[in-house]
Amino acid sequence: MDGNGRWARKRFLPRVAGHKRGVDMVKEIIKACDERKIGYLTLFAFSSENWRRPKDEVSLLMELFCFVLEHEIHLLHSRNVRLKIIGDLQPFDDKLRHLIRHAEALTQANTGLTVSIAVNYGGRWDILQAISHFMRAHPERSVADLTEQDLAPYLSLHYAPEPDLFIRTGGEQRISNFLLWQLAYTELYFTDTLWPEFNATALDDAIASFQKRERRYGRTSEQLASGS
Ligand code: IPE
Ligand code: MG
Repeated sequence: MDGNGRWARKRFLPRVAGHKRGVDMVKEIIKACDERKIGYLTLFAFSSENWRRPKDEVSLLMELFCFVLEHEIHLLHSRNVRLKIIGDLQPFDDKLRHLIRHAEALTQANTGLTVSIAVNYGGRWDILQAISHFMRAHPERSVADLTEQDLAPYLSLHYAPEPDLFIRTGGEQRISNFLLWQLAYTELYFTDTLWPEFNATALDDAIASFQKRERRYGRTSEQLASGS
């Protein structure tokens, strides 16, 4: 979700106003995904590199995150949404960690859309933490014969299928250390639309683009046509 700051600057507003407007869009996109019967939505809210931002902005983002967890969780729960938070939660304060645990516990049995919010997340961190958790759980195994299937249960998104579509708003054409492992065969979609303007119609444009892609997973077009 990129472009909150630029959205605010265009309107001569503080960056904070862009982040608040960004939260409104998160709500709209969750609703739109739910209505479109999408199973999994994963949002990159705060990367492990975002700590480098000015102190004020970082603390405001944390406050906003707390506020949303406290005030929006009941609406999500009533919509049968299962909420998950992924990332290294260690640096967060007790209040935030408590809110996260509470929100996940409240919604864990829900069977609708799974919304995962990545905070203090990095794709490289995810792969490394998976390896170290695997090794701790299987001290008899050696890294030399580690397989992809070995790691899968230890990755942050172990409960979700591999993503079909990746969307980055705000004009940049990079993955910026998001789900590096999981994006191996994901269709990538980049748009100049700033996150606070990325509404349900913009989501439909992204889905329409996805539907035109041919997903070959290494095969040829001819093989796909003949079903082999
Ligand atoms: C993305 O918007 C939101 C977060 C990282 C929380 P930005 O804050 O990166 O917005 P721009 O890139 O400055 O426009
Ligand atoms: Mg940005």
